[in-house]
Amino acid sequence: MEYVENTQSNTEVLAKETLIFPGFYTTNIGKLSSTDTSSFQGVFTTAITNLKNDYTKDKYIRDERFDQSWDHIQGEARELIVKLLEMYCAAEYSGFLLYKELSHELKETNSVLSDGFSLMSRDEARHASFLNKALLDFHLKPGLGFLKKEHRKYIFLPFSWFIYSTYLSERISSCYYITIFEHLESHPEYSIYPLFSFYKSWSEDENRHGDFFGAVIKSQLQLSNGLKARLVCKFFLLLIFSMTYFKHKSNYKLLALLGLDAREYYVSTIRKVNNSIRKDLPVVIDLEELQLFEELDICLLHISENEKINISNQNTLLKLIRKIPHYSTILLVILRLLIRSGTA
Ligand SMILES: [Fe+2]
Ligand SMILES: [Fe+2]
Repeated sequence: MEYVENTQSNTEVLAKETLIFPGFYTTNIGKLSSTDTSSFQGVFTTAITNLKNDYTKDKYIRDERFDQSWDHIQGEARELIVKLLEMYCAAEYSGFLLYKELSHELKETNSVLSDGFSLMSRDEARHASFLNKALLDFHLKPGLGFLKKEHRKYIFLPFSWFIYSTYLSERISSCYYITIFEHLESHPEYSIYPLFSFYKSWSEDENRHGDFFGAVIKSQLQLSNGLKARLVCKFFLLLIFSMTYFKHKSNYKLLALLGLDAREYYVSTIRKVNNSIRKDLPVVIDLEELQLFEELDICLLHISENEKINISNQNTLLKLIRKIPHYSTILLVILRLLIRSGTA
């Protein structure tokens, strides 16, 4: 472990380097650059003007509430907060690098998209920097070796995957932030660290990023029109909503620390996101008709049965045989969700 000096506070404290793991993604740049921004000039102009206005420019200022030691937060609470900061720090760095590189790659071929990505990378850099400083409050400093391009391993995502999943991650994170902000506004006793009071601005930034991707979706007809677009979109909504819902199993302690019930929190987030994306996508899910959460609970039950089998002392073959019925049920649920119409 490398030890570096923390210059953030006036007390000379040593910060320990911690590793964070941003993901690096890329996609078909040719298809992205072919986005017809002129036929959808109105939506692009609105999205980019809102980004240019930089409404939250002066919002991320560490005020006097940060001028104190956070060493009174110890044990599990400290571990949970550090895990949250590391996770979001990695995600913000991912977004910053992705948008910065896309802006650069599109500079010559699509100046409208290039401008949008550049403005979004500005926001993500600001978010990452804020989290970086928050980690220093806990005597941790993220290792930034990944900023060197040669240290990154890129994952190529097909175009529709890339656009739908990035769009949804912007909308979902916007919803995460505002839900926590509003909850802590009405339950300040759970506000154990001032970071959360910045979540309103954070949510607004991510929402503007969602608006920009919404404009890209509208202008890419293979993503916004026709049966194929509806099917692919439904598949991604199911996939991303399922992954989001499953997080309640791993994040329940952190959310309990903030006074939130994890399952309720994720269900309400998915409902809000599903309602907010109608304006951009060719299809949204009818959560009630599909009984999505009930179906996913069935999957969770069988996943947990398989985990129990995994840790048993039986031999590998016997374990596999015992797991087959659980895998089959999970597969049936997935097929049911895909085949049933369940869209609105
Ligand atoms: Fe961000
Ligand atoms: Fe974002």
